[in-house]
Amino acid sequence: MNHKIAVIPGDGIGPEIVAEAQKVLDAAGKKYGFEMEYTKVLLGGASIDVHGKPITDEAIETARSSEAVLMGSIGGDAATSPWYKLEPSLRPEAGLLAIRKALNLFANLRPAYLYEELKAACPLRDDIIGSGFDMMIMRELTGGLYFGERKTVVEDGVRKAVDTLTYDEKEIRRIAVRAFDIARKRRHLVTSVDKANVLDSSRLWRAVVEEVAKDYPDVALNHMLVDNCAMQLVKDPGQFDVILTENMFGDILSDEASMVTGSIGMLSSASLNETKFGLYEPSHGSAPDIAGKGIANPIATILSAAMMLRYSLDLDEAADAVENAVKKVLGEGYRTTDIMSEGCTQVGTQKMGDLIAQY
Ligand code: NAI
Ligand code: MG
Repeated sequence: MNHKIAVIPGDGIGPEIVAEAQKVLDAAGKKYGFEMEYTKVLLGGASIDVHGKPITDEAIETARSSEAVLMGSIGGDAATSPWYKLEPSLRPEAGLLAIRKALNLFANLRPAYLYEELKAACPLRDDIIGSGFDMMIMRELTGGLYFGERKTVVEDGVRKAVDTLTYDEKEIRRIAVRAFDIARKRRHLVTSVDKANVLDSSRLWRAVVEEVAKDYPDVALNHMLVDNCAMQLVKDPGQFDVILTENMFGDILSDEASMVTGSIGMLSSASLNETKFGLYEPSHGSAPDIAGKGIANPIATILSAAMMLRYSLDLDEAADAVENAVKKVLGEGYRTTDIMSEGCTQVGTQKMGDLIAQY
């Protein structure tokens, strides 16, 4: 079976790490009987260099007509790169916002997983992490406070700023459905996070999530207030499977959760819409400080590719195999510089890709 994948190598370390993810996908395809048909798409700085703008209609159409997009990271060093002398709407990041909007990618998925082998980097106490943690944060990405009406006025000589937080039940329902679907592929638990003791938007959120839960009797649901969730993430992270939450809470909680893993080069992410389509990319940026040196950690991108296999292509077995390959290679003591520790073997980007692809 052939799968049509749009590939955005991106800027900085992007092309280096995406090449390794493609290597791993191709190896998995040989084993599990599928083939990837890649179409290269320019976005961000790479697109500015060729087309004078960070995204083109053609790029969006190529992405739209694919089953999924695999992306490196985009952007450069804001202090030195000529891309940042352009007006904001022509800078690299504008391309990313434009593709998210054009493809209606409303659900942002960020897993936070603690690798046994990398436990030493986890900032939490051993007695807290216990048997580890493996959670998936699902953040609503296109509604709420960041997209509400905003204004700053002066009333009676006093400056006053207003931001509005709006959700309608359709927006809540579609992401809740996504979260329950994903919980079904995991440990069948959804924790919905809100501030229902104060906010009307959270009370509606809670009510709609309850309604959706009725269609998933095999998935357990609990509700947690956001302030408590912020505490629980460092107190007992092992209790979470899928965390479902709105835009701003998810922004903050997903950064918190990723930091308790202690390894930026390892964190994958996905942005999904109502269909099977998704955009898969590492959580980190384009790391211009190490670009071209062959030392970037490709694992976040490889794990993003595994998410693509699982969520857009329904190739769960191959996704498991890629994730297990990462664990094996870490277990054998291979490390890129960002996760290097004593007694381990340091390898570069390509070698890390080769090692993972070989399983
Ligand atoms: P960054 O994540 O690129 O780098 C932060 C630090 O982590 C750097 O020291 C870098 O060398 C290191 N690092 C990141 N990924 C790594 C990897 N795979 N292996 C080893 N080390 C790694 O964040 P920064 O420096 O704030 O941003 C750099 C550029 O990336 C900016 O232009 C920013 O706008 C862009 N960016 C793009 C994102 C995207 O494409 N979605 C997300 C975040 C930032
Ligand atoms: Mg953030």
